Order: sequence, then C-alpha cells, then structure tokens
Amino acid sequence: MTRLLVTGASGMLGANLALLAQDMGYEVLGWTNSRPLVDAPFATRTVDFNNQQSLARAFEAAQPDALINCAAQANVDAAEKQPEAAYRINAEAAGELAKLAREAGVPMIHISTDAVFDGTQGNYKETDIPNPLNTYAKSKLAGEHAVAQANPEAAIARVVFYGWSLTGTRSLAEFFYNNLTARKPVNGFTDMFFSPLYVGHLAKALLEMLQKRLSGIYHVYSPESLSKYDFGVRLAHEFGLDANLIRPISARDSDLLTRRSLYLSMNTDKLQAALGKPLPNQNEGLRALHAHLDSGLRQKLLSFTH
Ligand SMILES: NC(=O)c1ccc[n+]([C@@H]2O[C@H](COP(=O)([O-])OP(=O)(O)OC[C@H]3O[C@@H](n4cnc5c(N)ncnc54)[C@H](OP(=O)(O)O)[C@@H]3O)[C@@H](O)[C@H]2O)c1
Repeated sequence: MTRLLVTGASGMLGANLALLAQDMGYEVLGWTNSRPLVDAPFATRTVDFNNQQSLARAFEAAQPDALINCAAQANVDAAEKQPEAAYRINAEAAGELAKLAREAGVPMIHISTDAVFDGTQGNYKETDIPNPLNTYAKSKLAGEHAVAQANPEAAIARVVFYGWSLTGTRSLAEFFYNNLTARKPVNGFTDMFFSPLYVGHLAKALLEMLQKRLSGIYHVYSPESLSKYDFGVRLAHEFGLDANLIRPISARDSDLLTRRSLYLSMNTDKLQAALGKPLPNQNEGLRALHAHLDSGLRQKLLSFTH
C-alpha cells in the first residue's frame, strides 16, 4: 500500500484529495496546521511550516512513499498584508520539503497557481513567461523555483478549482451556491476568466500524475475556460437556482483589495497528452459537484472541523 503524505489536509484541496486517495486504497497521512481535523478517516498530524526543524523531523517520522504539497498561505489579501509569512510557507518551506523528498527518493507534486500569469494574454502554456501581479502570486512563483531547484524530479501542478470545503465558504462554487439557495443577489465578474476544475477531478488527475511519475510543470485545469459570471450562471442551472440573482459586473468596477489577473484561460494540451485523455469540461465538473452534494460529501467535510 502506498503511504501518501498530503500537506494542507485541512484545506479545500488537501481534504478532498486525502479522502479520495483513502477511498482509492492509499494509506494517507494528512498534515494540518491551525485547524486539527475531527474524525477524519485518515491519520493526521499538526505541522507548522514556519518551523524548519520540526518540518524536517515530521517528514522523517512520516516515512512517506509519495508527497503532495497542498499547504499554502492561499489567502490573497492575507499574503499582501504579511508578505514574509507568505514567502516562508509558499516558497521556503516548499523548497525544504522538495529537498527532503529528493534526499528520501520520494516522488513529489507541489501545487502552484494560475495567478503566476498576469492575465493579459490567455491560453497560457507551461512554457509561457510568468508575471505575477500580487504578493501571493509572487510567493507561489518563488515556490515553483525553490521546488524545481531543490528537486528537478518533482512535478509542479498549476491549478485553480472549486468544490465543497471544510468551512463551507472557501470556493467560488460555495459562494454562488450559498447565496443563491438563500435567494440573495450576488455580483459575477464578466471580465475575469478562469479554467477551474472540480476539486474531485483535480485530485484524481494529481494521483494519476503521481502514478505516471510526471516531473516538471503541468497545467492541471479544465480545457474549457469561462467568466466567473458564466460560472455562476452554469452553477445556478445545474442546481435549479435562480440565475437572475447574479448581477453581471466588471471586476474593474469592483472593490477587490488586491490586484488580480483577469484573463486566465489555460492551455492543458501537455497534461492531456501525458494522461492520454481529455480533462473534464465545465458541465462535467458541475455535475460532479452536484453528485457529491447528494452523496453527502459536503456534510462530511463540514463535520471534520466541528
Ligand atoms: N483555491 C483555489 O482555487 C486555488 C487556486 C490556485 C492555486 N491554489 C493552490 O492550491 C493549494 C491548495 O489551496 P486551498 O484552496 O486548498 O487552500 P486552503 O483551503 O486555504 O488551505 C491551506 C492549507 O494550508 C495549510 N497551512 C497554512 N499555513 C500553514 C503553515 N504555516 N504550516 C502548515 N500548513 C499551513 C492550512 O492549514 P490550517 O488550515 O490547518 O492552518 C490548510 O490546510 C495551494 O497551494 C494554493 O496556493 C488554490
């Protein structure tokens, strides 16, 4: 049985990935930081990436066969306010983990972001030159460099995703779902484009990347991009909610605290060729989100922190 270490297991990606991997027969060890998990069906341990020595000790104790690093300071506004903490977690600690994994011969996937690009061009390939606009994105790009330098065999998965989370409010899908089910009007950006994967599809793709021992940078997105407004409308249709509650607005007219990239459609040809199959489109993703609501995944994740 493969012993898989998932960092950031109390986060949206880490928790969904740990559950899927456990279901697929991996022995999962999930690392958390400030939010210990209650009744998780996999082993957990608290490890703070701010402490280099305890990170190294915890890695040695974990004895993993494989590692997926989902831990991050992923709050864009918090990173802007505390850049040193963001660089420590997103870049330095990622590099330290990559070095530990290389020394132990453990295959690793490090999670990065579409926000490494400035969003002026669209259809971004792995070979396009990044130009991050804010501290979060700059620290994530520094993390890519630190991981690649410490461990050239590691895979770097650039992602963006939605799904059900432990807080019930982490993802854009939850924002639209929570507000529309409460019949509250919301804004949807018509000029901010992205290529999100449903987190369950993302988790599956990451495990396939691990099995194939891919290394280097991969874009792990849906091949179908859309505006955040259109995403809300599609979600409303999937769940039978009122799409008229979504007001189309321009991100340029909004009061976003931190500067963000606007046109982040992503090219996924490299990963689709490596996996030998297409990645899911938006309707497939939203159907899976709906199916997982019906099967109780949302309640299960919410119960982990209560
Ligand atoms: N959400 C998106 O759409 C999106 C888009 C692009 C890229 N990404 C990337 O995808 C990955 C996962 O994102 P997510 O949305 O799942 O993040 P998230 O929900 O914010 O979770 C972040 C995780 O990192 C852990 N963490 C934070 N500070 C830590 C520290 N000092 N030491 C150890 N662990 C720490 C958190 O632990 P505690 O909660 O226990 O403190 C939590 O488990 C990140 O690399 C992020 O940059 C996400």
